[in-house]
Amino acid sequence: MFADLVLKNAKVYLADGIVEAGLAVDEGRIASIAKEANLPSACEKVDLKGHLILPGIIDAHVHLRDQGLKYKEDFFTGTCAAASGGVTTVLDMPNNAPVTMSVDSLKERAGIAARNSLVNVAFYSAFPEQLEEMRDIIEFGAKGFKFFFPKQIGGVDPEDEESLFRYFRKAAELNVPVLIHAEDKGFFESKFEELKRNGRCDVSAFLEAHSVYSEVKAIKHAVELARMSGGHLHVCHVSAEQSMDVISSARQDGVNVTCEVTPHHLLLSSREVDLLGFIALTNPPLRSERDQASLWLNLERGIVDIIASDHAPHALSEKKKDSVWEVAPGFPGLETIVPLMLTQINRGRLALSKFVQVTSKRPAEIFRIEKRGILKEGYFADFIVVDMKKEWKIDSSNFCSKAKFSPFDGRTVKGKVIKTFVNGRLVMDEGEIVEKPGMGKIIR
Ligand code: DOR
Ligand code: ZN
Ligand code: ZN
Repeated sequence: MFADLVLKNAKVYLADGIVEAGLAVDEGRIASIAKEANLPSACEKVDLKGHLILPGIIDAHVHLRDQGLKYKEDFFTGTCAAASGGVTTVLDMPNNAPVTMSVDSLKERAGIAARNSLVNVAFYSAFPEQLEEMRDIIEFGAKGFKFFFPKQIGGVDPEDEESLFRYFRKAAELNVPVLIHAEDKGFFESKFEELKRNGRCDVSAFLEAHSVYSEVKAIKHAVELARMSGGHLHVCHVSAEQSMDVISSARQDGVNVTCEVTPHHLLLSSREVDLLGFIALTNPPLRSERDQASLWLNLERGIVDIIASDHAPHALSEKKKDSVWEVAPGFPGLETIVPLMLTQINRGRLALSKFVQVTSKRPAEIFRIEKRGILKEGYFADFIVVDMKKEWKIDSSNFCSKAKFSPFDGRTVKGKVIKTFVNGRLVMDEGEIVEKPGMGKIIR
């Protein structure tokens, strides 16, 4: 056999541990993982000097924007950020302009993504205007429906209980997950009005408006919808201890609930909001240190299924506002997720096996990304090469994302992605993007 590419002198992460081996790639797939003597010959050979090969990250929560919001990010800059950060597949959220909520809007978005992306892209849809279109949207290839409780995005009013149940039931029938942004609309709105009436526009008012209580209330609501409909509920960016308790007990009751946490909720708390101000505002907000500790505990216990970035780029001018109510919540995360987590591995706070599980293997299983998420012969050659020992400083001015700010700016991290391969092609090498857009596949 003659392969396209052989990577030799590496350590390769496999299900049962790390092996000293090489990896051969042919036609975009992993052709073999073997000791050097047993690898095929190849057109191209690269010596990895003992560095570690891990599966590429599958980031299940990304806002790539583009179209009407391309001033914040577009498919090219967003997927350059992904490649640079070690993310080989992103799942794109639907709160775009136009909202992704129909076969037509999906088709258009997928077309733009196909021409401009360096990593693989899959899509979520919001609920469509017509219930019956849910089937067509899934047949087109969307990976699930995202439902935003605090405000209507898509075809269903969060306060229309009856429709909500029908849409959840249809998702169950179609065997796809409903992902939620958990925040109770009524509670948020009344708190928001009260704070505004009292002239509050400081960062702590933001934390009060987006309270743990309203997160928990929405999760309970969604758990009941999942229980009654028999479907799969995925809770995005869980931020609080009580939310984890609700999810954990729902699961014990047999409700099909999975959940995700972000690196920022694991590593930052409301203290950083005090220190950094508007840059650190995100929704759900950074919570208490007790909440933070609970996320780590639930990650260890296996209640947390995945870690995802919630990459939410904005223009800097949208962050720097006088009133907290005008600040766009969120910040970019694609270029920090891997180094932040590798740092925790180096500190002994996170097992490498857990990291791979929650950033590659489980997202592939939960969202049915076929033949990706682990390193195995016959699987797509989506992988990263990491230098576990490299210490460096996060510098958001070097981001590929259009959003050149981060609450992690200036932080020293240990562990660096030095190469990113997507479908067998080297797309990022030592910080440089070395492929043209169009390399990424649209995953359906
Ligand atoms: O902080 C956030 N940013 N939370 C959201 O739910 C939306 C997101 C965005 O799209 O910017
Ligand atoms: Zn959200
Ligand atoms: Zn989000």
